[in-house]
Amino acid sequence: MIPDSFIEELKNRCDIESIVSPYTNLKRTGRNLKGLCPFHSEKTPSFVVYPENGSFFCFGCGAGGDIVTFVRMAEHLEYTEAIRFLAQKTGMPMPEDAENDQTAKLKVRILELNREAARFFHATLISPKGAKGLQYLRSRGLSDKTIRRFGLGYAPEEWDALKKHLLAKGFTEYEMLEAAVIRKSEKGRSYDQFRDRVMFPIIDLRGGVIGFGGRIMGDGRPKYLNSADTPVFKKSRGLFAMNLAKATKQPRLMLCEGYMDAISVHQAGFDNAVATLGTALTAEQARLIAQYTQEVVICYDSDEAGQKATARANQLFEQTGVKVRVLSIPDAKDPDEYIKKFGAARFNKLVEESSNSTEYAIEKIRRKFPPDTDDGRVGFLKEFCILMSRIPNRVEADYYLGKTASELNVSREAMTSQVDSLRRRSQKKEQKKFDSDLKIYGQDVPAARQDLQRSANMRYALAEDKLIAALLKNPDYGRKLSEKIKPEQFATDFNKGIYSILLERINSGRSLDMISLSSELSIEQMNRISYLLATASQSNPSLEQAQQYADIILEKQRQRTNEQVGSMNEQQLREYIEQLAAGKK
Ligand code: CTP
Ligand code: MN
Repeated sequence: MIPDSFIEELKNRCDIESIVSPYTNLKRTGRNLKGLCPFHSEKTPSFVVYPENGSFFCFGCGAGGDIVTFVRMAEHLEYTEAIRFLAQKTGMPMPEDAENDQTAKLKVRILELNREAARFFHATLISPKGAKGLQYLRSRGLSDKTIRRFGLGYAPEEWDALKKHLLAKGFTEYEMLEAAVIRKSEKGRSYDQFRDRVMFPIIDLRGGVIGFGGRIMGDGRPKYLNSADTPVFKKSRGLFAMNLAKATKQPRLMLCEGYMDAISVHQAGFDNAVATLGTALTAEQARLIAQYTQEVVICYDSDEAGQKATARANQLFEQTGVKVRVLSIPDAKDPDEYIKKFGAARFNKLVEESSNSTEYAIEKIRRKFPPDTDDGRVGFLKEFCILMSRIPNRVEADYYLGKTASELNVSREAMTSQVDSLRRRSQKKEQKKFDSDLKIYGQDVPAARQDLQRSANMRYALAEDKLIAALLKNPDYGRKLSEKIKPEQFATDFNKGIYSILLERINSGRSLDMISLSSELSIEQMNRISYLLATASQSNPSLEQAQQYADIILEKQRQRTNEQVGSMNEQQLREYIEQLAAGKK
């Protein structure tokens, strides 16, 4: 957890105006700033920034919150990542880098240990003991230079070769277990994790050896064995060869499925290849890639699994705004095999010709419906038009419409009018959905931010809103209000969640600043709070008024109890009356 003191410092260092202004043009209006909302499209500004309390709110779409919420929404980041983003902007080191001493020390030891292990594996590879491994790597077409560049190694066919080596270098068994280079049998004996495998060290952006992949040389299982997650290694976060690729002058990265593919592609002359670590691409990895490049070429296996993974990766990259091209690899299972079969020059050409994601999608439809028969053409054109209707950029869609029309010798006008009608139909659907949302939700708060429970309890929900706003402005009401009404007595779960967090924070003496709240509240809750503050900016209710709001909410309780009493049998009724008499209700 990030300490409050750090958040406080962050708040002092970044003012909301400078955080928001790269995303939209702000103009001063009185104490506040106004601009076009970066979260929905609009022609007249309804997005307001309140420097006074470091919040923003859009009266058009209901987006709102503090700077952290803003960064989370604008950059699609998780909470901690958003903090990291802001910390980087202001040059503050993240607190986890100054985390508790013991963990920090252990991490340093694991990195030292891993480095020593990588040295050991590499030294073994080029020693007589490693002949088998070296021969294997050479048989896979790797040059000595490549082997050195990637620091490849060999783990000998012994139970404790690495363990002995590391003990002699002063590392403890505990450290080896934490680094996951040894494991313990049920009987409590420990042994090397990697035996008789060629070793691929995984190196992070700072050059630290964070883990290993080890490939078996024959047909055994598993083919690849990877380090378990450790304090310095998360499979879902890292990328193999990113330490090399980050320095490329190429305007793109090449994303491969496996270690061997990334290495082969490097050897073929691309210093910009990376690979995931035995899992499907994660959103985190996609964002990491997006930080380093404008364009990514997906070079996954040509089999069905690889193609599925490609589609999924494509989706993840869409959210990051990185341009995607997809390499299709004919007559080979993966880039490594292709390069081995046809050489680096042919691979280069393949990359040059690799298609963008629209072309890739068209190619997929073409494979499903080969348009060389009448039936095929009908199927192809139908799906092709649907695809085109979903491309937001009309110029791009026009380009492919023209191209396909002349390739298949069909009327371009007919296709265009088909695509237009598909577009209109989906727009109508959207509009309808929007209208019905509005009807269900009522209009006191922008539609998209509303929920059903709220509309069924509008009177109480509004009282809850007011009570929360009063509390936000006057945390000192907390004690009195918490005596009067408990979170469980709220009518809507959404506000109940907010109220209970506010009370907890007040009780433990913590701040109700927008930025402090964003560590515990969801984006939707932050949106609501900023709405409450924005609409209540003129008034400040007294404690008595706040207690009246509580009374309104409690009416709901009474109403519920009346209903319950009405449906009680005699026994229940008696018990209820006894409880009342005892003062429990
Ligand atoms: N992988 C894994 N565990 C396995 C098999 C695969 O972690 N049992 C991961 C490895 O990171 C590997 C990647 O998935 O690099 C791709 O696997 P695969 O396509 O099977 O291997 P190749 O990359 O083709 O490796 P090779 O050419 O050495 O067979
Ligand atoms: Mn392969």
